[in-house]
Amino acid sequence: MIHIPAGLADLVAGAKSIAALTGAGVSAESGISTFRDAHGLWSRFNPDEVATREAFLRDPVKVWDWYAERRVQIALAEPHAGHYALVEMERRSREFALVTQNIDEMHRRAGTKRLIELHGSISRVKCFDEDVVVDEWDATGEVPPRCPQCGSRLRPDVVWFGESLPIDALGEAIAAAQRCDVFISVGTSGLVEPAASLPFEALRARAAIIEVNPEETPVSPFVRYALRAPAGEALPALVRAAWPGSELIGG
Ligand code: OAD
Repeated sequence: MIHIPAGLADLVAGAKSIAALTGAGVSAESGISTFRDAHGLWSRFNPDEVATREAFLRDPVKVWDWYAERRVQIALAEPHAGHYALVEMERRSREFALVTQNIDEMHRRAGTKRLIELHGSISRVKCFDEDVVVDEWDATGEVPPRCPQCGSRLRPDVVWFGESLPIDALGEAIAAAQRCDVFISVGTSGLVEPAASLPFEALRARAAIIEVNPEETPVSPFVRYALRAPAGEALPALVRAAWPGSELIGG
């Protein structure tokens, strides 16, 4: 049973504005692979071969199939107690925003309302040439399928290496980091920009940083509190300590 210091519970319960940033680690206990852990995706696959525009131009079938496999893994997964604890945190707090680098929609499925998706969503596809989201296309069996408007190939609506983040989402994320007084970093290695800079934006605005991660990260030296435990244990414990009587699914 993880111990939550009284000062931490008071800090969260008394926050005027909470911003949370999540990474792949928050979904690890749902059975979704992280990227940089010992058995993470980037230990088995080269991102240059599956997560860049150049890779798609070189071998669109390989890239499409790689995301199709991940889509299956994600479809079979369920949100866990950590995702639900963040829903309860949103319900209890005065102001809340959840910024995620994940493309798995677990936070949305759990019920988070104010969700900012920085890296897109694997459940959507868009036109490679025109960059517009496409909802329906002809099932000709061709892989990847073609855009019904312009005939170019469809691709997952996710951010690849070397691409810009969706400008609105990034603006909202920076604003949330700058206005919060408590910033909670959960399950991210903090190695990929611009998400990695968000806790430092919050620090500059004098927010207290809390980290939920079994491992230390570049933000660790700057945190007020670190919970070195899996998100599925730490987040329900944190919410229950901040707001005794919280009703937590799975926690
Ligand atoms: P990483 O795989 O880089 O980091 C996952 C972090 O989660 C590590 O710090 C782990 O220690 C931590 N972790 C593992 N299990 C955990 C658990 N049960 N509870 C809490 N933390 C746990 O994933 P991200 O930081 O999300 O981008 O990676 C950032 C971006 O790099 C991704 O969005 C993706 C990737 O390349 C793109 O694809 C553009």
